[in-house]
Amino acid sequence: MEVLIFDKDINASLYAAMIFSKLVRQKPTAVLGLATGSTPCLLYAELRRQYEQEGLDFNGITSFNLDEYVGLDGEHPASYSHFMRQALFDHINIKPERVHLPDGRSNDVPATCADYEKSIIAAGGIDLQVLGLGGDGHIGFNEPTSSLASRTRIKTLTRETREDNARFFDTVDAVPRHCITMGIGTIMEARQIVLLAFGERKATAVKQVVEGPISAMWPATILQMHPSAVVLLDEVAAASLDQKDYYREVADNKPDWQRTQIASK
Ligand code: F6R
Repeated sequence: MEVLIFDKDINASLYAAMIFSKLVRQKPTAVLGLATGSTPCLLYAELRRQYEQEGLDFNGITSFNLDEYVGLDGEHPASYSHFMRQALFDHINIKPERVHLPDGRSNDVPATCADYEKSIIAAGGIDLQVLGLGGDGHIGFNEPTSSLASRTRIKTLTRETREDNARFFDTVDAVPRHCITMGIGTIMEARQIVLLAFGERKATAVKQVVEGPISAMWPATILQMHPSAVVLLDEVAAASLDQKDYYREVADNKPDWQRTQIASK
């Protein structure tokens, strides 16, 4: 797991955008795994800018989002489908038929989840997955105690997550109790993972993810086992890390061949 600490969230997001745009240029049929929430907003803004100003082409790109609330249709302003259209899809040339989110209005949730897994496989698997981090260490909506081998399924949101997300609804009681989320096993099959975490609210979870033991109590700790995961942090989110100076030293002293490799990745 590579840990990079930036002065501000915008610079971490620009770095993430560089990883995304490189892939999109090198593999115009790439499969992207996308997240919602506040964290990836600057990343999506930069991808929109590159589409508008630099011709970054999403015409052949396929996307799979991590999760969706159960019970909300795609037109609901707090649905993740709505969020993604506003944040990204309506502003770039990705083909609507290549965009995938779990169907929160499904009458047969297990079948919907199984189909989602099949669609990811049929698309060739996810090349690059962006993740935000829950204050409780969740990725997707895999809350603490989720099986580290889990697949796409229904989950019950914790009170903490519902309170965190109440800002998108009128009241906390309006936040759905259930969601459909890619499983941790599903996420771990992505070929490359970029985890973004910004702000003080994430510092405890970041400490666990980077330096804690792997545990279902902090689901994102499983990323320590991923062969190509990078964690992009701002200073505040990185504040509790014991090895901060070492991560900086690693980043500042990469051998030239490794820098070239990253630049062409
Ligand atoms: C969203 C998702 C969640 C969020 C996490 C952080 O699709 O899967 O794991 O990434 O809850 O949310 P924000 O970015 O709003 O702090």
